[in-house]
Amino acid sequence: MEQGEFALSDREFNRVKARVYKEAGIALSEAKRTLVVSRLGKLIRTLRLNSFDDYLDHLERQGTPADAQDFINALTTNLTRFWREDHHFTHLETYVGQLMQRRPRGENGRPKLRIWSAGCSTGQEPYTIALHLLAAFPELKRWDFRILATDIDTNVVAKAASGTYPETELSGLSPQQMALFERAGGGQVRIPAAARELIAFKPLNLMNNPWPMRGPFDAVFCRNVAIYFDKPTQGELFARLGALIVPDGFLYIGHSENLGAGGGNFKLVGKTIYQARAQQKARDAA
Ligand SMILES: C[S@@+](CC[C@H](N)C(=O)[O-])C[C@H]1O[C@@H](n2cnc3c(N)ncnc32)[C@H](O)[C@@H]1O
Repeated sequence: MEQGEFALSDREFNRVKARVYKEAGIALSEAKRTLVVSRLGKLIRTLRLNSFDDYLDHLERQGTPADAQDFINALTTNLTRFWREDHHFTHLETYVGQLMQRRPRGENGRPKLRIWSAGCSTGQEPYTIALHLLAAFPELKRWDFRILATDIDTNVVAKAASGTYPETELSGLSPQQMALFERAGGGQVRIPAAARELIAFKPLNLMNNPWPMRGPFDAVFCRNVAIYFDKPTQGELFARLGALIVPDGFLYIGHSENLGAGGGNFKLVGKTIYQARAQQKARDAA
């Protein structure tokens, strides 16, 4: 234990685990003990409390909604980057290219395209979707094209909405990809307005039931999010996502994930790429 750190007993760690599982579906492993000590320790100090037990009692008895949110924000893992698992964006481009050939005009006279980045972290995933598709199909600017980007962590949602990143975030990208960002000075890059305006960033806990939006979405990205959930929770989540995806639309998941019990309405069509079956086809297959 480092100087100034609060000791975390097994019983207290179990209390932390039970709370974050109940609130966010996150199943903390033993390996997260150090992270819990350092991240929640800061909150305990800010609240001028003396131990993890005091802190958990505070959350249960007189904690404000802001305290409850700080607890969640402290325990999420937000690692992400632009064009992460880039084969998904190549696949999405082919799919949207096909939709553009055949999609009829909607009520407002413009064809509709809806994509959801569920667990968007600091925004690199939804911005990659927007930048990639606008570069491939400039005519999408005349579509009714919206991206919903949600995360349980309110800090990352606020960061994402700012649309500004340190230039170092672009390392590893191709010159063509780098050219899609605006230079903001002071070592910062900014997402151009045309891409920013497509995206609505909202806080959303995927464990909430029901979700506030009705969909349907042409594609959903839920990548490297379910990895923090246990198997039953993952199965339920993917099944619920399946119900919000148009027949023959796509679900993109993280490189180490699979749909488990939630895969009934999907077929695997590429590496971590699943296509939603039409409901009739799904019933036939059952
Ligand atoms: C590792 S990041 C993945 C970001 C991005 N999808 C990617 O693949 O690069 C996982 C994100 O899932 C979010 N998350 C965890 N539990 C969640 C929940 N119950 N509801 C919504 N988001 C959640 C975390 O806050 C975190 O930002």
